[in-house]
Amino acid sequence: MTLQHTLERRRSVRHYADTPIGADTVRQCLRLAQLAPSSSNMQLYEFYHIIDPAVLKRLAEACLGQKAAATAPQMVVFVTRQDLHRSRAQTVLDFERGNIRRHSPPEKQAKRIQNEESYRTKLMPFVYARCFGLLGAFRKALAWGIGLFRPMMRDVSEADMRIVVHKSCGLAAQTFMLAMAEAGYDTCPMEGLDSRRVKRILNLPRGAEINMVVSCGIRKDGHGIWGERYRLPFDEVYRHV
Ligand SMILES: Cc1cc2nc3c(=O)[nH]c(=O)nc-3n(C[C@H](O)[C@H](O)[C@H](O)COP(=O)(O)O)c2cc1C
Repeated sequence: MTLQHTLERRRSVRHYADTPIGADTVRQCLRLAQLAPSSSNMQLYEFYHIIDPAVLKRLAEACLGQKAAATAPQMVVFVTRQDLHRSRAQTVLDFERGNIRRHSPPEKQAKRIQNEESYRTKLMPFVYARCFGLLGAFRKALAWGIGLFRPMMRDVSEADMRIVVHKSCGLAAQTFMLAMAEAGYDTCPMEGLDSRRVKRILNLPRGAEINMVVSCGIRKDGHGIWGERYRLPFDEVYRHV
């Protein structure tokens, strides 16, 4: 299948056939989802692959009983883990030290490693830390001050950083859905859900957030999708500058 075919084949499927789907294929599509880009390569997410029928039933209820959830033989919950920012930064740093040694000219290695260490052990903990909005307000004020003199990233409040984390997780979810479409499986992304209940079902810690639930299966003949796909005229969204 070409990428265009895959993109055209993927639809939000709201009713699945009774046919089971392979858990290994879904797992493989989640491996491919990891190839999605993420901000600072922090990968602040987790994928919960649900195949247990009892958990699926509870999850479908938490997804407000939507058919797209209630008829799905498997589901994946995309979860953001901003709370893991320190350990993920450290893991990436450990990798990048070796990466620099393997791929950078010898005379540039020390400086590049030093930059990477400062980025991962100082800047990342600073921008991802949360404390009832206070740290975000401080970062924003600092960014505003620096921004008077040079271009500066301004969207660094605690709400902004949640968006950063959710954006990257959403890209992983989309990559997953495309991989599933290519494998001949269907999906439906859902944010119409009770996030508190979903968190409770998965026993997630306070710092974790639900990005979206993606139901998985094979579309039911004649009922799977709700009619034709609608997109705005391209000229409504395309701006040539
Ligand atoms: C973040 C997100 C959340 C969504 N939540 C729901 C949902 O809760 N229930 C649902 O039936 N569809 C949901 N959708 C699917 C959209 O309605 C669907 O993508 C849109 O109508 C376009 O149709 P298509 O995906 O078939 O191209 C969601 C889509 C996205 C991207």
